[in-house]
Amino acid sequence: MKTLTVDLKERSYPVVVGGGALAGAGTLLARLGFQSPPVVVANGTVLRLHGPRLLGALEGAFGPSPVIRIPDGERYKNHQTLAKIYDGLFRARADRRSWVLAFGGGVTGDIAGFAAATFMRGIRFVMAPTTLLAQVDSSIGGKTGINVAQGKNLVGAFHQPSAVIADTAVLATLPGRQLRSGLYEVIKCGAIRSRPLLDYIDRKLPDILNRRPGPLEHIVVAAARIKAEVVALDETEGGPRMILNYGHTIGHAFEAAGGYRRFTHGEAVAWGMIASLAYGRELGVLGAAETAHLVRLIRGAGRLPAIGRLDPDEVWRSLLRDKKFEGGKLRMVFLRALGEGAVLDGVEASSLRRFLERFLAGNGNLE
Ligand SMILES: NC(=O)c1ccc[n+]([C@@H]2O[C@H](COP(=O)([O-])OP(=O)(O)OC[C@H]3O[C@@H](n4cnc5c(N)ncnc54)[C@H](O)[C@@H]3O)[C@@H](O)[C@H]2O)c1
Ligand SMILES: [Zn+2]
Repeated sequence: MKTLTVDLKERSYPVVVGGGALAGAGTLLARLGFQSPPVVVANGTVLRLHGPRLLGALEGAFGPSPVIRIPDGERYKNHQTLAKIYDGLFRARADRRSWVLAFGGGVTGDIAGFAAATFMRGIRFVMAPTTLLAQVDSSIGGKTGINVAQGKNLVGAFHQPSAVIADTAVLATLPGRQLRSGLYEVIKCGAIRSRPLLDYIDRKLPDILNRRPGPLEHIVVAAARIKAEVVALDETEGGPRMILNYGHTIGHAFEAAGGYRRFTHGEAVAWGMIASLAYGRELGVLGAAETAHLVRLIRGAGRLPAIGRLDPDEVWRSLLRDKKFEGGKLRMVFLRALGEGAVLDGVEASSLRRFLERFLAGNGNLE
């Protein structure tokens, strides 16, 4: 078990990572000063697989916890589900001293966190993330929100949790595609901040994909630490936090152009990183050998759905919807070295567009 800290002065909080962490959740949270049971928000899938473990640990410390069950899926990260959570909170007689425990993947964390940010103008909440993506990414940093008809994550709030408890043992039941999707975000963390993490993944890839406890815990700790460090530098995303968007400018455009069905978010980010690497290579930001090394690592993590069938015009329209161009120029994250991300201003829209057309025409192959 490892405890990291997200250092945000009076809003600092611990991130506890390890196999079996849920079993100690009651004791840990009591030690952090919680005295009453939380209102747990979770979907049926996660409750069925792992609910007893968490609810048992909470019961030992606080007595039984009320549970609000939400439907499973990104399409339910909306205002109807939010209203359902508010209803559940009122039904549980929650007040300003109550607290929420979000138990699940990024969808649950985002919507339960947003409910906590807004219920009675803000109550405390704790994250118990159960997907690899949520453990290394969405549970840390305080971004909460929902999707609306006009787009994803367009309504939300910054609201930091009081603690994050990431039990890596629950990843044993995660579908393989979800595991690999989270792994691409872990690779992203290594790419922008830690060559040793990239080398570790390179050495241990089969063990990670086979969910060996030691390697899983190692990569979650390493990636969560990177996210925590970057968030501490820049809580509300004015500056340095932008490097966490490595692979995301192009990746989001691929994700949207695929109708949010063809690629998971992580897969779209994987393609976004491959494209950024190839484009960075053309611009002379990173050398050929390092580029090839990281592309091989990303592609080695699993079968990515083919990119070639995306319509380049649709990709470009999605990119324009998502990103601000100033004077035909864009800010994007590139790698100056493996393990060193850097924000570059002044990427020419016309040059990027021509590159993407070539990239898609070549099915994402670099030559
Ligand atoms: N707030 C942030 O900073 C941030 C960052 C990145 C992503 N996100 C958001 O996160 C969401 C994606 O999160 P996600 O990838 O975790 O998706 P998700 O929450 O939909 O979870 C994926 C699937 O796995 C299931 N699941 C969860 N834990 C499981 C387990 N241990 N075993 C078996 N199945 C399990 C879920 O029920 C779901 O069906 C998106 O809505 C995205 O916008 C937020
Ligand atoms: Zn992401």
